[in-house]
Amino acid sequence: MGILVLMFLLSIAAIPGSLSDPSDEACLTHLSKSLQDPNKSLQNWREPNFANPCNDSISNLQGATCNNGRIYRLSLANLNLRGTISPFLANCTNLQALDLSSNALTGPIPPDLQSLANLAVLNLSFNHLEGEIPPQLALCAYLNIIDLHDNSLTGPIPQQLGLLVRLSAFDVSNNRLSGPIPASLANRSGNLPRFNATSFQGNKDLYGYPLPRLRNKGLSILAIVGIGLGSGLASLVLSFTGVCIWLKVTERKTALDEGKISQLMPDY
Ligand SMILES: *[C@@H]1O[C@H](CO)[C@@H](O)[C@H](O)[C@H]1NC(C)=O
Ligand SMILES: *[C@@H]1O[C@H](CO)[C@@H](O)[C@H](O)[C@H]1NC(C)=O
Ligand SMILES: *[C@@H]1O[C@H](CO)[C@@H](O)[C@H](O)[C@H]1NC(C)=O
Ligand SMILES: *[C@@H]1O[C@H](CO)[C@@H](O)[C@H](O)[C@H]1NC(C)=O
Ligand SMILES: *[C@@H]1O[C@H](CO)[C@@H](O)[C@H](O)[C@H]1NC(C)=O
Ligand SMILES: *[C@@H]1O[C@H](CO)[C@@H](O)[C@H](O)[C@H]1NC(C)=O
Repeated sequence: MGILVLMFLLSIAAIPGSLSDPSDEACLTHLSKSLQDPNKSLQNWREPNFANPCNDSISNLQGATCNNGRIYRLSLANLNLRGTISPFLANCTNLQALDLSSNALTGPIPPDLQSLANLAVLNLSFNHLEGEIPPQLALCAYLNIIDLHDNSLTGPIPQQLGLLVRLSAFDVSNNRLSGPIPASLANRSGNLPRFNATSFQGNKDLYGYPLPRLRNKGLSILAIVGIGLGSGLASLVLSFTGVCIWLKVTERKTALDEGKISQLMPDY
């Protein structure tokens, strides 16, 4: 009985390895072309292996984790990868977690990622990614982690991302984002987690709650300049007046002294 169950389980486990998936293959082939790997970290990322990335005998493609013969996790963090994120990554349709953090990737975040219907974790932090945060990410309804901190992203934070009810971690700090912080993220309704200033800091032109007021900062700089200029001018006026008074007084004294003398002098 036990042996039968074991054989049954083994046969189930063997099936996925024998299937190859054309969309995963397209995904990996294009991704390996868009990435540059100067440290040669992705040793087994070669053409024949893309056809069947979940084949156990290739001891799995580095960073790829399979489930039911499909890639469901790609973890390629901290490998000194360069290049760009291929839009064909969207062909890995079973992907649940994508971690390309701590590399040197450039270029945009492809809006095509919207078709990753199962994506729950997106960690692209610590790269050099440019362009805007695609609002289409709001279509990945299962997203619960969006970590894009320490990149060079520009433009606004799409308020649509507030629609992601499962979102529990959101970090876009240290980019070049601009505009108002959507209340849909900073001041979410109901019991949804709200994201504090830590998630938004380090973006020069981003403003609004929960960041400290930009306007105050501008004013305080003006105030400092004003106080500096004002006090400089005041001290100038004061010392000038002082000199004038001193001159007046001495003049008066001299005049008085002269008067005294003239008074002392007998009138002839
Ligand atoms: C798995 O990979 C090995 C080695 O590359 C290969 O010989 C074998 O045919 C592959 N299995 C399938 C089902 O593709
Ligand atoms: C890859 O994705 C593109 C665009 O989403 C689609 O047109 C193409 O058919 C996909 N390729 C495979 C092999 O699934
Ligand atoms: C990549 O290689 C460079 C030098 O060849 C080395 O300094 C660096 O630590 C390596 N990075 C990683 C993540 O392996
Ligand atoms: C994303 O990756 C970075 C660096 O690899 C890590 O420090 C960070 O904790 C990750 N983010 C989340 C939300 O797990
Ligand atoms: C947050 O939302 C509530 C209710 O919509 C509102 O009363 C409150 O003023 C908002 N707080 C901030 C800081 O925007
Ligand atoms: C901001 O939120 C994070 C969790 O998302 C928490 O660890 C941190 O302590 C909070 N910081 C402040 C200043 O409330």
